[in-house]
Amino acid sequence: MPEEKKDKRVKVVVGEELPRDITSMDGSVVLCRKGTLVTPELIERLSNWIVEEEPRLTDGEERPKRKAAPSRMRDDMLRRLEFEQIVSEKTRESLEKGAESFFGGVTKDKKGGRMDLAELEDAIQELVQGTPDNPDVPVKLFELKKHSSYMYQHSIECGILASFVSTTLNYHPMEVNNFSMSMMVHDTGILEVPLEVLDKDGPLADDEWQRIKGHTRRGFEVLKRVPGIDPLALLMAMGHHAYADGSGYPQEVDFNELPPLVHLGAVINHFEALTSERPYRPAYSLYDAMRIILRQREKYHPAALENFVRVVGIYPISTFVQLNTGEVGVVVRNNQDGLFLPEVKLVLDQTGKPYQKEIIVNLLEEQDRVITGVRESI
Ligand SMILES: [Fe+2]
Repeated sequence: MPEEKKDKRVKVVVGEELPRDITSMDGSVVLCRKGTLVTPELIERLSNWIVEEEPRLTDGEERPKRKAAPSRMRDDMLRRLEFEQIVSEKTRESLEKGAESFFGGVTKDKKGGRMDLAELEDAIQELVQGTPDNPDVPVKLFELKKHSSYMYQHSIECGILASFVSTTLNYHPMEVNNFSMSMMVHDTGILEVPLEVLDKDGPLADDEWQRIKGHTRRGFEVLKRVPGIDPLALLMAMGHHAYADGSGYPQEVDFNELPPLVHLGAVINHFEALTSERPYRPAYSLYDAMRIILRQREKYHPAALENFVRVVGIYPISTFVQLNTGEVGVVVRNNQDGLFLPEVKLVLDQTGKPYQKEIIVNLLEEQDRVITGVRESI
């Protein structure tokens, strides 16, 4: 083993103290401080960190090299926090059934099937009526039971996120309804792209890339024939990959002519896609997805991006954060006046031991605690 690698090894013995700080691979985050008592639980956590090491992100969506392992401790803690959910399991099932009914009709359309929005409309109404209007709700907690089709799942998650974001931004319920429906059907054109192209793990050939890009126009053409569809859904299908800096598609769409809800839909679509697992890359964390979106801010309408960030937060609710004190907390509320200084529930003390009582600190009002990093797992 090369000398410099050998130097980074730390001898970890149960019952003894850590001989020095253990940092993340890039050295930016202290994972565990020198002097911490080594317990079997700590070793388990350390091995989680090693497995879950995220590659450094550069500009754009660089592909992570390995898949993150699940973190039991993180999920257990999130479960115990009992956050309010955007949707109930029952509403989610209604949305899945509505999506199956509508997309099934689209698939069968050429063979004389019927494209019918009725079941999806009922499900959207149920969704909108039950959507909380406060922003203190995590946009995603765990990887929920996935529909077998990514396209269905992505559509449902986009519909849910659209309802939550627009409700929180005080849009009229009718607009929330139309917006959620538009986001549910925005990728209808994808149904015509073969799965081996959509899920290809490798660079796309030019014709494959053209097929994927064509889903916007195809979606518009298909949806145009659906009785009773709202015009916003047509614009969403056509415009959700149109970007302010001209980097999107299709070329003939003028970004500035699109309505504000399509601009907002473009942000939601990208964010949702980043936080979902794909065959060619694992899901990004909510925080990393937000960083990618913010790094690519030239793509988005500034007002749409600002509204989205105000609702979801720079550190989205349920993000585990490392504090300068050595403690670890989980974001439970965002402060509109200081998006970098959220309210945090402390979960681990500076020695890595779980706090037994509930301590919530508002970083906006705290002098001594600041966030120094984000923890994918604990
Ligand atoms: Fe799309």
